[in-house]
Amino acid sequence: MISARRLSRSYDDGERGQVRVLDAVSLEVQAGEFVAVVGRSGSGKSTLLHVLGGLDTGYSGEVTVAGTALACLGDLALSRFRNEQVGFVFQSFHLVQGLTARDNVALPSFFAAAPPADTLARAQEALERVGLQGKAARLPSQLSGGERQRVAIARALFARPKVLLCDEPTGNLDAATSEQVVALFRELNRGGLTVLAVTHEERLRGAATRVLTLAEGKLQ
Ligand SMILES: Nc1ncnc2c1ncn2[C@@H]1O[C@H](COP(=O)(O)OP(=O)(O)O)[C@@H](O)[C@H]1O
Ligand SMILES: [Mg+2]
Repeated sequence: MISARRLSRSYDDGERGQVRVLDAVSLEVQAGEFVAVVGRSGSGKSTLLHVLGGLDTGYSGEVTVAGTALACLGDLALSRFRNEQVGFVFQSFHLVQGLTARDNVALPSFFAAAPPADTLARAQEALERVGLQGKAARLPSQLSGGERQRVAIARALFARPKVLLCDEPTGNLDAATSEQVVALFRELNRGGLTVLAVTHEERLRGAATRVLTLAEGKLQ
C-alpha cells in the first residue's frame, strides 16, 4: 500500500548547510497494517509523512502510495491524489470555526473536480463512522477536544481513502480522550483501513500492529 525506496530529504539549514533529515529510507506498508513510526522531536517524522502524502515534492527516491508513483504526478494530479487516495489527520485539528461538523467533513468535496452528488449524506456517514452522528450540526466550539479530532478523522475518511496518514493525532488530547481516539483508529484499521501514524505517544504505539523508529535519518 505504501512503498518508499531510498527516500532522502534534505533541508538547507543556513550555517549548517544541507541537513539530511531522511537518509535513503526504505519503507513497505502492506494493505491492512497499522504502523506507528516513533522518534524524538525533530527526527523527521512529519517530513516523512508529508512526502508519503504528496504534500512535499523536494525529495529523492521512489515513493508509491495506493498504486500511484508520486514522482510521475504533476501539480494537478498530485492534489487529486491527496484529495482521493489518502486521508490526513493532524495534531491540531484544522477545523473551520464557522462551519458545522458536517460541513467541515464535507469541505474536501468543495475542492474536488467532481464533488459527489450525495455530499451531505456522505459527510453524515463519515460522522457515523466516528460515532458523532448526533453532533453533525454543532460548531467546533460546541465540541470537546476529542470530538473535534473525531470530526477531523471523519473529514479524512470522507473521500473513502485506502490510507490514513496521522501526524501526532493524539498530541493535543488528554489521556482519556486520547484513548478513545486510539480505539477509533484500531477499529478503522480492523475495518480494513491502512493506518500510518507518526507519534511519540505510548498508547498509540501500543495499538499499532508494527512499530518503526526514525533516528538519524534512518528508519528501523
Ligand atoms: N521546511 C523546512 N525547512 C528547513 N528545515 C526543516 C523544514 N521542515 C523541517 N525541517 C527540519 O527537519 C528536521 C525534521 O523535522 P520534522 O520532520 O518536522 O520532525 P518531527 O516531526 O519528527 O519533529 C528538523 O530539524 C526541522 O527543523
Ligand atoms: Mg512533527
